[in-house]
Amino acid sequence: MELEGKRVALGVTGGIAAYKSAELVRLLVKQGASVRVAMTEAATHFVTPTTFQALSGNRVFTDQWDTSVANGMAHINFSREADVLLIAPASADFLAKLANGLADDLLSTLTLARDCPLLVAPAMNRQMWSKPATQRNIATLIGDAVGVLGPASGDQACGEVGEGRMLEPAEILEELIARFQPEVLKGRKLLLTAGPTFEAIDPVRGITNLSSGKMGFAIARAAREAGAEVTLICGPVALPTPRGVTRIDITSALEMHAEVTQRAAMYDVFVGVAAVADYRPRIVSEQKSKKDGNPPPIIELVWNPDILAEVAALPHPPLCVGFAAETGNLAEYAEKKRRKKKIPLIVGNLITDGFGGDTNTLVFFDDNGQQILKPAPKLVLARQLITRIATLLENLHAPMTP
Ligand code: PMT
Repeated sequence: MELEGKRVALGVTGGIAAYKSAELVRLLVKQGASVRVAMTEAATHFVTPTTFQALSGNRVFTDQWDTSVANGMAHINFSREADVLLIAPASADFLAKLANGLADDLLSTLTLARDCPLLVAPAMNRQMWSKPATQRNIATLIGDAVGVLGPASGDQACGEVGEGRMLEPAEILEELIARFQPEVLKGRKLLLTAGPTFEAIDPVRGITNLSSGKMGFAIARAAREAGAEVTLICGPVALPTPRGVTRIDITSALEMHAEVTQRAAMYDVFVGVAAVADYRPRIVSEQKSKKDGNPPPIIELVWNPDILAEVAALPHPPLCVGFAAETGNLAEYAEKKRRKKKIPLIVGNLITDGFGGDTNTLVFFDDNGQQILKPAPKLVLARQLITRIATLLENLHAPMTP
């Protein structure tokens, strides 16, 4: 559970996206957070307090003049007992109040009285979002260290299409979890590869492997959570891009090689998580090859370039981290790869059930020997790897200048 022990205060303002905040509460609770909700009067016209009470398991605050609250200081206690205050949805009107320090109802009062970080997830019609007044208010809030999540672009409840939609509950959850991670890679640039490559034989056939990309995508997310600027170069996978990560899709090892080598020198860290095909057909047939009673074709293969070894051999290489998936003799093979590619750290994983699972068992191999990590979900392991990379960076490299 990603938010175990965390206390989230959720403010809900009046907008149709308020119905999504009910789902958000469910997701937060599922991740172990304790959630307390305060609503504006307008919000109660979209969703009832009873819904939030049932989902959070806690009483919902709506009234500034509620005399049943001990010493009548609901606005003080609400945020004092929270690790973060999140306003979702945040209407244009509410953002204007926040930007100007107004406190004329319960939610704006408790927001002004907070002593915890504040995040807002704007939700409004695209015209309202684009107005100079709203944009001025957002700029003021960013200047006041308020975290602004979204908005997204797309279909709007009013029937229009454009920017102003509230982020989806799962996206808000991801952002919130990210805020609780230590920013050990702040100011660093990290480049990584993930997934398989596909080496064409003809227009419909090719050589590939079963890498799902999950491990690499988890590392991209963990690196971004840790404050890094992240570029992810990935083969054909069916995964959503982690928020805030720049993604470049490629198909073959040669394409991955080109995308990596043109950038690598500008990064502090390069992590090769991809299961790159070692070889490709020398000739790619332009036509689908036919059976026609002939014997099956003999496909001549040629080696692909070793991307990781090439990056590690640059005159001023980024900190290079490799991966090694083995079905046996992990220590021997991983260490051999590390030395051959001349990289400081390789991460070994023993493949017992094939690729694609949600958990992994990793072992770090470096100059000091090996460190076996407990089997865990890929995101948990990714965060441990990021911590290790941050330590290595502190000892080895000054940050890249932008
Ligand atoms: O994607 P998932 O389903 O989550 O699975 C994750 C994974 C098992 C694919 C991943 O954790 C992993 O271990 N990836 C490396 C697989 C492997 O053993 O690759 P390799 O032995 O071919 O290469 C070793 C290292 O060199 C890797 O860092 C690889 O990215 C790099 N390499 C390899 C060949 C090549 N031509 N260029 C490279 O850069």
